[in-house]
Order: sequence, then C-alpha cells, then structure tokens
Amino acid sequence: MAIAHPNIALVKYWGKADATLNVPAVPSVSITLDALTTETRVCFDASLATDSLCMNGIELAPTSEQARRITACLDALRTLTEIRLQARVETRNDFPTGAGLASSASGFAALVVAAAAALKLELSLADASKIARAASASAARSLFGGFAELPAGRSGEDVAAIDLAPAEHWPLEVVVAICAEGPKAVGSTRGMLDSAATSPFYPAWVEAAAADATACRSAIIERDFPTLASVSEASCLKMHAVMQTTRPALLYWNAATMATLQRIRELQQAGIEVFFTMDAGPQVKAICAPGCGRDVASALASVAGVSRVLSSGLGGPARLIDSSCA
Ligand code: DP6
Repeated sequence: MAIAHPNIALVKYWGKADATLNVPAVPSVSITLDALTTETRVCFDASLATDSLCMNGIELAPTSEQARRITACLDALRTLTEIRLQARVETRNDFPTGAGLASSASGFAALVVAAAAALKLELSLADASKIARAASASAARSLFGGFAELPAGRSGEDVAAIDLAPAEHWPLEVVVAICAEGPKAVGSTRGMLDSAATSPFYPAWVEAAAADATACRSAIIERDFPTLASVSEASCLKMHAVMQTTRPALLYWNAATMATLQRIRELQQAGIEVFFTMDAGPQVKAICAPGCGRDVASALASVAGVSRVLSSGLGGPARLIDSSCA
C-alpha cells in the first residue's frame, strides 16, 4: 500500500507543450499537503483478465475515462518489466474526489509508487515522476513532499518534477474553503486543451510563466511571504483569466468563492499573512504564514456558502507504507 498527498500549485500549470506525452507548456511550483491523503494498493494477479479498479469503494467501468488513464499508467510500468499480469487496484481518498482538490495528483503518485513496488521495479524518483507526469502532470509534483517544481518541457525525456525544499524548510499552513461539494464541471485536461486553442490570452500566459516560476522559487528559498503571496495570487488570477476567456468559457467560481476572496482581502488588510489560490474548481485555498492558519480557518468557516474548511500543514513525499501486494 502506498500513500500520497495532493499538492496545490502556487505558480500554475495550465497548458501542454505536447498533449500526447502530457508535457507541460509552462513551469509550475507547488506545495504538498499533509492532511489530505490517497491510499492505493496494487496487486498483480494471474487470475485477472483485465485490470480491475476500485475507487472509494466503487468499481470503475473498464471503459471509463478514469479506468483508461489508470490502465495506461500501469502499462507504462509493465513495459519496463517482463510482467504482463493484470492488476487489482484499490484506491481511496479521505477528501472529495474530482472537486478541484488535486485528487488526480495524489492518485497517480500513489499508483506509481504502489505499482512499481508490486512489480519489484527499482525506479529512480526522476523516472517515477516522468511516468506520473504522463498520467497527470500535477501528479509528478506529489511524488515530492514540501515544495516541488514541474518544469516546462518539450519531450517526454525532459526532466519531470524536482524537489525544491522539504516541508520543514518553511512550515506554511493551508486552509481549504469548500465552496461546493461534488465533481467539477470540466476537467483540467479538456479545459487546458480548449484554452490553448481558443483563449486570446493563452500566448501571454505561456510567455510570462518562466518569470513567475523564478520569482516563486526565490521567494520560497528566502522565505519571503509577501513576494510569494504576490506572485502566487497573480499566477492564479492569470490562469483564471485564461480559463474565463476560453470558448466555451471555464467558469469555476461561485458566489462563495468570491465571498471567500473578499474575506481574505480583509484578513490581509488586518495584517494577517495569508493569500489565496484556486484551481479548476470553486474551492479557495488560503495559504498562511506559519502560525496564522487557525485564525484564517475560523474566519473562512463563517463565510456565506462555505460548507466547511479543511486545515493542513505541508506533507511528505509519496511513499510505500506496507508491502502486502505493495
Ligand atoms: C488547475 O495535472 O490535472 O490544478 O496533466 O491533464 O492531468 P493533466 O492536468 P492536471 O492539471 C492541474 C491543473 C491545475 C493547476 C496545477 O495544479 O498546476
């Protein structure tokens, strides 16, 4: 059994240089959360005719999009071995799945670690992160704890995610305001392809991304909260400007999202070190300087439309926790 945690991008990945190889067009920088977890068990079994996949207690139809992506990821690992057996995969998230909380990132990171161990593959982290990236690019970042970077690339051979700093380097706190339960309307993969094809802002987004990643990396290394806040909010809002100018428009925000952003502005004006980021869904992630998470959580819990808040510190890398069928 392997566990992995979702990660939240501060400088965002939105766009592919190569859609088939799933190589990002822009660099991204993320933090890995410790309070949300995916647990995945993989057993290769000669009695199975096809991969059998169970997610959160529900069997996935083999023809479903999720099953297709999981099987493709297993195939990428199987081809590195002589083993051609089918697998039984059981995976469970202790947080909402497919709701803009990066469940595909933790899901594929845990899958790669569990399946590689079950196949007795000694994968380097670099190779594991390339395989995770091909499945879902943000998953490459969840192989690492703390702070990670996923560079832009051109080919499948380009380096996948890299470790920037461990969680202990700067114990930021994260409060997630749940602004809607349930799955998002348009998934990231489809959304970013549509953005590249139709948003007039997409070229400018790609052009500025390297500078944002550089500024973010330096702010992390120097533990410079105001700079991190400024570059992260700007990256998030630019990504949402691209989303909103995509045709058909990707409108992920709801009224509670907006109310939460306004509350975060008030907290900032009151001197609390906090900033926001959002992904392909209405949830708002409030990133807090060490020690500020408790005040931010109680402020966001009372925002109209916020159903609950989740609080987290920064987490560790994807890892094997027992090797019964890995
Ligand atoms: C908005 O990694 O889910 O969360 O590679 O197509 O699977 P695919 O996309 P995915 O995209 C994540 C997009 C984002 C921003 C981010 O996490 O950087």
